[in-house]
Amino acid sequence: MTQLKPILSHLDPIIPSSTGKFKPDKFSAYSFHRLRCHPRLAFWSFLSVIFILLFFCFSPPDGGAAAAKRRSLHTSSYTRRMHLDSNWELKARNSARPRSKTGFSVLVTGAAGFVGTHVSLSLKRRGDGVVGLDNFNSYYDPGLKKARKSLLDRAGVYVIEADINDAVLLRKLFETVHFTHVMHLAAQAGVRYAMQNPNSYIHSNVNGFVSLLEACKNATLQPSIVWASSSSVYGLNSKVPFSEKDRTDRPASLYAATKKAGEEIAHTYNHIYGLSITGLRFFTVYGPWGRPDMAYFFFTKDILKGKEIKIFEGADHATVARDFTYVDDVVKGCLAALDTAKKSTGNGGKKKGAAQFRIYNLGNTNPVPVADLVAILEKLLKVKAKKKVLAMPRNGDVLFTHANISLARKELGYRPTTDLETGLKKFVKWYLRYYGSKKKSAW
Ligand SMILES: NC(=O)c1ccc[n+]([C@@H]2O[C@H](COP(=O)([O-])OP(=O)(O)OC[C@H]3O[C@@H](n4cnc5c(N)ncnc54)[C@H](O)[C@@H]3O)[C@@H](O)[C@H]2O)c1
Ligand SMILES: *[C@@H]1O[C@H](CO)[C@@H](O)[C@H](O)[C@H]1NC(C)=O
Ligand SMILES: *[C@@H]1O[C@H](CO)[C@@H](O)[C@H](O)[C@H]1NC(C)=O
Repeated sequence: MTQLKPILSHLDPIIPSSTGKFKPDKFSAYSFHRLRCHPRLAFWSFLSVIFILLFFCFSPPDGGAAAAKRRSLHTSSYTRRMHLDSNWELKARNSARPRSKTGFSVLVTGAAGFVGTHVSLSLKRRGDGVVGLDNFNSYYDPGLKKARKSLLDRAGVYVIEADINDAVLLRKLFETVHFTHVMHLAAQAGVRYAMQNPNSYIHSNVNGFVSLLEACKNATLQPSIVWASSSSVYGLNSKVPFSEKDRTDRPASLYAATKKAGEEIAHTYNHIYGLSITGLRFFTVYGPWGRPDMAYFFFTKDILKGKEIKIFEGADHATVARDFTYVDDVVKGCLAALDTAKKSTGNGGKKKGAAQFRIYNLGNTNPVPVADLVAILEKLLKVKAKKKVLAMPRNGDVLFTHANISLARKELGYRPTTDLETGLKKFVKWYLRYYGSKKKSAW
């Protein structure tokens, strides 16, 4: 099994909270095995249990026994979740090797995700070394994540199956490979799911991000970091288009709040440790290998099935519109951010000087009403949609997004070139091939 397992069961007590839709495992076989022990040992264990219980009786109610229990459960669920290859270090080292001396070695977190897969393939194609990391959680069909991983395997990108909260693994990984760059895309995405599972957002977007930044800051040669924030940080703003200078202190969803928190945390690590950090605010990214929880994706699925689709509108029939951005355009923005990133200045946690800190919008600057999105899909699928227009529920979605991309244009040379119809044509082509080749019952 995994080489790391014994180490991981002694993880430090930072609580890795629940992730995605994972159900925590009961107890690992490992802990059961250790219960069968010598009578004298049993006696002393009994005494210490009494002692611990007494201790918790006299400690304040908050953060007592319950927290300790939570911690141990999470630690064991954590250990069980790992599916590390026994020779993962060797595989990571090979995968990280760029084709030429000037190439990058990039760690891509969330590599089995939608954007992560496209970015990893693009980096590999141009000769950079890439190591992916993803926990394959079941927020949406992990089968799709596995299929993306096979694509990466074939391209020579190795993906480690692990959680970014796994500090022990990250430390080993950073000792094994010298990463020049980290492209951080792992996150709990989606706006509506936060009402069902708020902790998954804190787990991945706050705790996980800090855990990753800790590993980066500790490295002797700190990598430069580029990561995905979101257009959702603009929250309740009504001034359009959204500019990087606009206020971002009124998030409308927990997702947005964790992305905003990420931006502040990034600033702190930049300030204290000299990490070079670039945050990219993506605007509704779509395309082949996309995310099943997004409207363009499940509209396609439901239209084909003849199922009714819900189209939301604002108060007084206000149009809901999105600045849909084609994935290849976003990937170009990500690579340009990596290419223009300055080096981090710190070393092993010590800052040597001021480091670069940037934030850019990556959008398309062409908001499209959701009704138009549906019309394009109907045309491409040659099926009439059964539409139902409803008032938008107040669960975190905003009415309108529109990016001002002049800063990214100026500093990254970012120029999106794909309009919604062209991009959706490529998505639909992929969709029909991918799901057409599977049994109908599976979908
Ligand atoms: N797609 C969009 O429209 C959009 C818009 C704005 C921002 N973003 C951001 O861009 C990034 C990529 O988004 P995406 O659309 O590719 O989403 P995605 O869900 O397809 O990809 C994220 C990947 O991260 C992995 N992951 C989640 N938590 C993890 C953890 N704790 N440890 C390790 N892996 C973990 C998931 O398994 C998934 O494969 C995310 O940060 C997202 O918030 C996306
Ligand atoms: C970073 O370094 C500190 C101090 O040496 C250590 O306590 C911590 O565990 C390290 N973290 C990681 C993720 O490497
Ligand atoms: C877009 O942002 C730039 C600054 O990056 C600003 O100068 C410009 O006025 C903005 N454009 C609009 C239309 O708001």
